[in-house]
Amino acid sequence: MNWRIPLSDLRLTQEDRDAVAAALESNWLTMGERTQAFEQAFARALDPAEPPYCFAVGNCTLALHMAMVAAGVGPGDEVILPSLTFVATANAVLYTGATVVLADVASDTDWTLCPQDVRAKITPRTKAILPVHYAGQPCDMVELRKIAEEFKLVIVEDNAHGPLADGWIDAAHTPRALGTIGAIGCFSFFSNKNMTTGEGGMVVTRDPQLAEKLRLIRAHGMTTLTMDRHKGHAFSYDVVALGFNYRIDEMRAALGLSQLSRLVANNAARAAVVQHYYAALDALPAVTVPFRHRPAQGRTAAHILPVLLPAGVHRQTVQERLRDAGVQTSIHYRPIHTFTYHGNTPLVRKEGLEMTDILTPRILTLPLSPTLTPDEVVFVVQALRNALVGA
Ligand SMILES: Cc1ncc(COP(=O)(O)O)c(C=O)c1O
Repeated sequence: MNWRIPLSDLRLTQEDRDAVAAALESNWLTMGERTQAFEQAFARALDPAEPPYCFAVGNCTLALHMAMVAAGVGPGDEVILPSLTFVATANAVLYTGATVVLADVASDTDWTLCPQDVRAKITPRTKAILPVHYAGQPCDMVELRKIAEEFKLVIVEDNAHGPLADGWIDAAHTPRALGTIGAIGCFSFFSNKNMTTGEGGMVVTRDPQLAEKLRLIRAHGMTTLTMDRHKGHAFSYDVVALGFNYRIDEMRAALGLSQLSRLVANNAARAAVVQHYYAALDALPAVTVPFRHRPAQGRTAAHILPVLLPAGVHRQTVQERLRDAGVQTSIHYRPIHTFTYHGNTPLVRKEGLEMTDILTPRILTLPLSPTLTPDEVVFVVQALRNALVGA
């Protein structure tokens, strides 16, 4: 369909194409120098003063699985995560044989993980907390860090949405890059994300021991890489852990480097579009805008623009009317506990999700991209106003 205003707008530049072409021409396609350069640049972008260890991988789902394995999560363990997330967040836990414990969102205007509910759902089997920085909005990391410390839990951040956004780490509001606050952070470079490599992801840690584990399990648990042997630095290898092949390739690393160079500017452009939305949506008080009155916690990286429709509105009618006006919308997310598979497996615990259940039928995501103009934002909000009449 030819949308007048698509949900997200992928604009590849000539530099992006040149970077991929150069990787192809280099005659080295698997994980190599471009991947290393991408990882180093990403680490510096996250934290120039103390760059974390970064490992580029095939996608964020793999990053999350690696994080769970590196954190030692396995059968019998429980990991607490929000139900309001993409299915991959829960699946990464299930791959290990561990149990997913779903927690509620904080409120109808803060759709991130509720720390009080996390605390209430801790048992002697709880091993990790997996907060999701939904829409690029930081979870309450100050409170989650306190809980993790008190109960000796690992925090793995799903930061698929917020690359180069900050969150506060303490009561003094010290900002730190999301994805570098917990023990391990996971990023997605899927096509609709703030920066993309097509499929791609990054797994990040500040802990040298976790870094060594992540390095090994990305590539079969092997002690040397094909690149090391090509360069004559090594002639054989041992396998010292049960690893996977979760590597990225040089074409995607090259695209990642090129995309990364525009991420700060694009995140700033997204922030401006969000402000235009807020101004336009203020004139539509029937629609609740989550995060509207939250202060920024440092750098921002808005990924999606979700709203809460009035109670009782038939959402699909609204979506159909917006489609007829040329506006693409989506739903982030249908919560995990409502899926057939996750609703039926005993490995997903789903009690006490009242706020998520209230939000679920009313969530709607409006288009957001760095190139959206103020007039286009006004057009979307006017189309939403019209679509709500009698819906
Ligand atoms: C919150 C969240 N977590 C994880 C993922 C998985 O990312 P990927 O598609 O890179 O595997 C996504 C992707 O859309 C996501 O939105």
